[in-house]
Amino acid sequence: MLVSSGQTEYAPVIAELYKHCFKDRWSVSEIEQILALPTTIGWVTEKGFLICTRVLDEMEIISIGVLPEYRRMHLASALMRELMNYAKQEKVKKIFLEVSALNIAAQRLYGGFGFKQTGVRKGYYPTENGMVDALCLTKEI
Ligand SMILES: CC(C)(COP(=O)(O)OP(=O)(O)OC[C@H]1O[C@@H](n2cnc3c(N)ncnc32)[C@H](O)[C@@H]1OP(=O)(O)O)[C@@H](O)C(=O)NCCC(=O)NCCS
Repeated sequence: MLVSSGQTEYAPVIAELYKHCFKDRWSVSEIEQILALPTTIGWVTEKGFLICTRVLDEMEIISIGVLPEYRRMHLASALMRELMNYAKQEKVKKIFLEVSALNIAAQRLYGGFGFKQTGVRKGYYPTENGMVDALCLTKEI
């Protein structure tokens, strides 16, 4: 389901999904604030979500997650396809994101959609074993 800016009623669903997808948490009110922004656009199902921002002809993927029990069923790929269709329709020229250097699953997902590494932020993500680099990935459309 497409979630455009202002649709804050989806915040509890996304918070619940997020809790099962990531070690940290997004509170419902944090998500409400994100959804209230005029630049926010996303897709949400009962099994996963994808949240982006769009400013003119550029988009950034803020977060994507699929519930652990539904992974490797191409659900994230389906959400990414929704984003790609939207981006083409809206004449978006570039999509970018940051991903942990340790997150091989997400890197492969993005690689499959033509994202290429364009930079690195050294020691960007805190983990239990110290700081980990963020890879900056970009897709030109
Ligand atoms: C990353 C994530 C969203 C992928 O969701 P998914 O629905 O399992 O992904 P898909 O089934 O669409 O996989 C698409 C491709 O990504 C790659 N991939 C996905 N999971 C993988 C894994 N565990 N190991 C290696 N490659 C993987 C594969 O190339 C896969 O294609 P294939 O199954 O045909 O080989 C999911 O693992 C997740 O929610 N992880 C936790 C949250 C997260 O890390 N989000 C990204 C933050 S940047």
